[in-house]
Amino acid sequence: MILVTGGAGFIGANFVLDWLARHDEPVVNLDKLTYAGNLETLASLQGDARHVFVQGDIGDSALVARLLAEHRPRAVVHFAAESHVDRSIHGAEDFIQTNILGTFRLLEAVRAHWSSLDGADKSAFRFLHVSTDEVYGSLAPDAPAFTETHTYEPNSPYSASKAASDHLVRAWHHTHGLPVLTTNCSNNYGPFHFPEKLIPLMIVNALAGKPLPVYGDGMQVRDWLYVKDHCSAIRRVLEAGRLGETYNVGGWNEKPNIEIVHIVCALLDELRPRADGASYSTQITHVTDRPGHDRRYAIDARKLEAELGWKPAETFETGIRKTVQWYLEHPGWVANVQSGAYRQWVQAQYGAA
Ligand SMILES: NC(=O)c1ccc[n+]([C@@H]2O[C@H](COP(=O)([O-])OP(=O)(O)OC[C@H]3O[C@@H](n4cnc5c(N)ncnc54)[C@H](O)[C@@H]3O)[C@@H](O)[C@H]2O)c1
Repeated sequence: MILVTGGAGFIGANFVLDWLARHDEPVVNLDKLTYAGNLETLASLQGDARHVFVQGDIGDSALVARLLAEHRPRAVVHFAAESHVDRSIHGAEDFIQTNILGTFRLLEAVRAHWSSLDGADKSAFRFLHVSTDEVYGSLAPDAPAFTETHTYEPNSPYSASKAASDHLVRAWHHTHGLPVLTTNCSNNYGPFHFPEKLIPLMIVNALAGKPLPVYGDGMQVRDWLYVKDHCSAIRRVLEAGRLGETYNVGGWNEKPNIEIVHIVCALLDELRPRADGASYSTQITHVTDRPGHDRRYAIDARKLEAELGWKPAETFETGIRKTVQWYLEHPGWVANVQSGAYRQWVQAQYGAA
């Protein structure tokens, strides 16, 4: 049994679905169901005894202690976070609460649980912290990609809060001996991505005939990884990562945002052409850039590749095609997210949980 936090979010839900598709080890999924948590994503697991969903906050120490005592997981995989940079600019409070204070409380609850274990259970236990490349700050155009030893230079309230959580995780290992692993991954894309993020927003707006808003000149470079490759990296680190180590996860797919938008438009032109025959790229509009917008992130994933033999299965070309196809095939999921109906979905499916 493993305990996953934030398993109703984009990456966490993909992780839970992939985990249970591979074997029968059960998952306890602790998620607060903020706006970003969507149980409809996990609808295929309804009635599946291997998936125990608990709506709750990682900062609720009593709840986490109870879950750990009751289910005795062999590992905790910590995804739960406030994750959207724009939201952190408008208001950072939730980011401080969940990403920093929540992670601290989770670490303390996990430490108490781990301290109570003996022998093989204690030595096999793992706490895997899922983090981001954004903690490293912004790279100059020709600078080498981020390695695990790059200085922490977070620039947004989001990345600062994630950086703080990384430091707490590190300290709980060095001070208390907690068996931790940390992954710092580049931008993810793929199925079930909330349409406030670049790729799903472009797909959804394009199909709705709306403008495709690109920040500034669109030349912000991000390193893109298909979400299922991120999940496979986490599984591999959980299985064989060295305790206390950090592993960067990326797919060597650096691209400026504007190029991503053109690729999405070209795929939509091919798979779902506009009725008037024009390209979706005619809907692109440039909007005022985000304050403090980092220009470039790039991940050097050689440590993970060399030490643990991990490699992404998808190239950007195969992954983005799968992603666009997924959105075309799941208009109901998109519509429920956009209308807010996914918030009622839990009520309808699970009763007043
Ligand atoms: N999306 C990316 O490109 C990316 C890249 C690298 C790392 N990450 C990291 O991966 C993790 C997951 O990212 P995501 O994109 O899936 O985020 P997301 O916003 O889609 O999902 C976050 C989930 O956490 C839950 N949550 C939030 N606060 C909580 C709390 N206090 N207690 C319990 N649950 C809570 C939400 O309900 C939601 O289901 C985050 O830690 C993020 O920093 C994301």
